[in-house]
Amino acid sequence: MSLATPIDYLHTRHSVKFVQQPGPSDEELGRILQAAMSAPDHGRLRPWRFALIRGDAVARFADLAISTIKESGAPLTPEKENTTRRWLDKVPLLIAVACRLDHANTKIPEHERMLATGAAVCNMLNAAHMLGYGAFWSTGLGTYVDMVPEALGFDALDYRFMGFVAIGTPIQSAVPPERPDYRQFVTEWTGN
Ligand SMILES: Cc1cc2nc3c(=O)[nH]c(=O)nc-3n(C[C@H](O)[C@H](O)[C@H](O)COP(=O)(O)O)c2cc1C
Repeated sequence: MSLATPIDYLHTRHSVKFVQQPGPSDEELGRILQAAMSAPDHGRLRPWRFALIRGDAVARFADLAISTIKESGAPLTPEKENTTRRWLDKVPLLIAVACRLDHANTKIPEHERMLATGAAVCNMLNAAHMLGYGAFWSTGLGTYVDMVPEALGFDALDYRFMGFVAIGTPIQSAVPPERPDYRQFVTEWTGN
């Protein structure tokens, strides 16, 4: 039996929405978060910020987010609320993701900071996959309702909130999805 090489992990990463206990140990969580620190980052601004929501706090946060969404008047059908609660019911860990705007430092454009933060998230998704966990990036759960990220310490003036990464043990084993052939997305410019 051949062992997976690191590049095989990259090729087989896929999102797993429905996860349960056990989540990553503290040591594994540290390794996942440390992977974010290797993201490409113009100007070494380290714009990524993370807030951990773990264990019982996940249910408390689901209640807070759902009541805040309702208060804000943003659309939330009973079906969507049920789906969200069913999803979060078993999730052992949410990592809330924000990009710090750092207004004083204007040399690097905002979209580059957001790209760096997205790359940091991608490193975490890959790290979770490499450690055998399922992970899923969601911009639901009130991501765009300012009061929700504010409750986590990310005010809209200083941060762009970029959603939540749920991590845990996959509830069902899943076959990695078919991916397109990269050739469909690549051209070559030769200058000739
Ligand atoms: C920034 C970002 C936000 C996302 N938000 C959601 C979301 O709110 N709901 C959802 O169903 N999928 C969302 N997705 C997509 C899933 O995380 C996942 O990538 C998608 O289901 C495809 O699965 P794959 O990663 O295995 O290709 C988001 C992806 C990204 C990059």
